[in-house]
Amino acid sequence: MVRAAFLAVTFVVVSGAPALAQNAATGEKDFIVCRACHQIGPNAKNAVGPVLNGVVGRKAGTYPGYNYSAANKDSGITWTPEELDKYLTSPQTVVPHTKMIFPGLKDAQKRKDVIAYLEQFGPDGQKKQ
Ligand code: HEC
Repeated sequence: MVRAAFLAVTFVVVSGAPALAQNAATGEKDFIVCRACHQIGPNAKNAVGPVLNGVVGRKAGTYPGYNYSAANKDSGITWTPEELDKYLTSPQTVVPHTKMIFPGLKDAQKRKDVIAYLEQFGPDGQKKQ
């Protein structure tokens, strides 16, 4: 039900700003592979991986209550869309010894869409307007 409402809203937005809205909507589907380990949204909790609410613009290793690897915490990275694009291509290359065991999204369009999807969520898990 909530999902149906979200899709309906997306379609309305698409007519106004096609490129961005479409990316985020596609990104929601591509995010399924991340969901195995990450939660996002108002009720998100740390799981295998940290909550990703507000991750775009956040300093690496700073979500409260999550037990990060030293590799991630000490990486000095701030998760801008550019850094996320590099990281999601190959997490182990950008953060050697990270405990994110994920081979990476090799498709540039998928990375772009997933980042657009992540960017919608503020630190409180609500979608920004
Ligand atoms: C197999 C589990 C797994 C999958 C799948 C996975 N991650 Fe992760 N992710 C983790 C873990 C564990 C960490 C913590 C890394 C550390 O502390 O070294 C992490 C960390 C991250 C971080 C850094 C967060 C921070 O606060 O510093 C981002 C961003 C991230 N993941 C995004 C993604 C995205 C986007 C996807 C899907 C394309 C994804 N991850 C898929 C397990 C996973």
